[in-house]
Amino acid sequence: MTPLRTCRMCQGSVRQVLDLGRQPSANAFLPPAAVADEVYFHLAAGVCESCTLLQLMDETPQGLRYRDSYRYEASGSKGAQEHFERVADRLLATELTGADPFIVEIGCNDGVMLDSIARAGVRHLGIEPAKGVADLAEARGVTIINEFFGHSSAVDIRQLHGAADVIYGANTICSIADITGLMRGVDTLLSADGIFVFEEPYADTVVRGRAFDQIYDEHVFYFSVRSVEAMAERFGFELVDVEHVAQHGGELRYTLARAGVRTPSAAVLKQWHAEMEVDLTDPATLQQWSAAVHDTRDNLVALLRSLRADGRRVAGYGAPAKATTVTNFCGIGPDLLPFVCDSTPGKQGRLMPGSHIPIVSPGAFRDDYPEFVVLFAWNHADEIIAKEQAFRELGNKWIVYVPEVRII
Ligand code: TMP
Ligand code: ZN
Repeated sequence: MTPLRTCRMCQGSVRQVLDLGRQPSANAFLPPAAVADEVYFHLAAGVCESCTLLQLMDETPQGLRYRDSYRYEASGSKGAQEHFERVADRLLATELTGADPFIVEIGCNDGVMLDSIARAGVRHLGIEPAKGVADLAEARGVTIINEFFGHSSAVDIRQLHGAADVIYGANTICSIADITGLMRGVDTLLSADGIFVFEEPYADTVVRGRAFDQIYDEHVFYFSVRSVEAMAERFGFELVDVEHVAQHGGELRYTLARAGVRTPSAAVLKQWHAEMEVDLTDPATLQQWSAAVHDTRDNLVALLRSLRADGRRVAGYGAPAKATTVTNFCGIGPDLLPFVCDSTPGKQGRLMPGSHIPIVSPGAFRDDYPEFVVLFAWNHADEIIAKEQAFRELGNKWIVYVPEVRII
């Protein structure tokens, strides 16, 4: 029987559509001596038959996700740095133009976006539960509080700082399982004509784009225009703009305002029609998705096994949270991939969650190139392939697996 759960947004019935098995917390990078502390849970995605929201069937408690072992730094690529600089510049030019504007970022991570806001001298506050990255943000000169966002923190912030002209989040709003608490918090904190802007993994990229590695414990929701519209309406808001964002393989940025305050852009209706045409909630589409993801697993494992049988030297590039999903779903461990390199200093010398593949620096990778490398940070392919030209010039090959397994 297909497992069911209650929708976190509308209390409708959520039907499981993809099972990714037993998984650890995706960004919990433990040192070798601490692997006994690893916590596992069941990773599966389902779709709500009422509001269409794609979401996890089970979740890890928030408190388990953002501990000392949380090692993700949002500024970890040139592409991301440039992206968040553009986000800040645009908000400064369009929304933060009043006498004493104020912006709040939910989950500001290492402050990559608020850095530009702080340098412009604009009042801001980052809310970040993971202490390690919150400290990095503070060291950059960003004002932060080290906690989770919810209704009670919104009440405190409003009392201390007044209403926010902009509330912003990137890859964070999808991780807040308590949608009611989130939206009541936004309602409390946002000014009468303010906007709530968030950019998040897009259900269409995950399903039809086959980016199943976006599914991990932090991403409780995979939004779409249809599900965000349903969410906005439920809490007295309106979706007034939607934009495509290239980050993480293709996301959508949603702009919400209080209902009736701003005129929705033409992009909202256009994207809504595009979604109706493909109907991501269609059982046949979702079944094909699950079959394709299992094919990817079989093909990737078969390729790595045949390379090992031929005595080829293979490794991984990038240890993003996405790689946790892939390695654990596929059962890829150090026997198939002896190491992975990653540029994040806080990940080096630690183990990939669950698979326990050791993480080394990109320098160690360059010292002795493997012949084949699984590009786990595939969403940064252009940046990485350009940076590692010598690797290819020597005849070595990249392996990617989204939308399907291929050697490039
Ligand atoms: P992200 O896709 O979630 O931003 O994660 C990308 C990961 O890949 C992050 O751990 C940093 C790593 N990375 C490298 O190791 N080298 C690179 O050149 C880039 C762009 C990313
Ligand atoms: Zn629902």
